[in-house]
Amino acid sequence: MPVSKEDIDGILKHYPREQRYSLAIMQDLQRRYNYIPREGMEALSEYLGCPLSNLYSMATFYKALSLKPKGRHIIKLCDGTACHIRGAVPLLDGLRRLLEIGEGETTEDGLFSLELVNCLGSCALAPAMVVDEAYYGNMTLEKLPGILEQYRKEASGS
Ligand code: FES
Repeated sequence: MPVSKEDIDGILKHYPREQRYSLAIMQDLQRRYNYIPREGMEALSEYLGCPLSNLYSMATFYKALSLKPKGRHIIKLCDGTACHIRGAVPLLDGLRRLLEIGEGETTEDGLFSLELVNCLGSCALAPAMVVDEAYYGNMTLEKLPGILEQYRKEASGS
């Protein structure tokens, strides 16, 4: 979604001008854009009368917040105990190789971001991963290319 001043102002207006709402507002910005754009941080700083540096330290402290644009699809690979035992590490290697990125990075075409998480709450399906809202259980290296391809095809409209 393109960043627009109107959009950002719309989010800000939902909250009183009090610093205790800064985290909630950043979470809303993150939900909207998948990251917090610089324009959003500046508007928030002005809206709350709070130094930009304070907001940046808060945003970097919370792992769920990102100051860099993320890919269109977020791949979360589980490395919780059950998934780790059942092969999360080779899967991570496979994803790194297929996407040519590391954990926490985004592919050059902006299609995928790769994240490692602790437990997706689907341990019975270990090893598990989630792409956006879609769960993939009993994952194997062999399944990875087909799953990625599906999203690539969708993106290219074929
Ligand atoms: S440890 Fe992976 S889903 Fe629970």
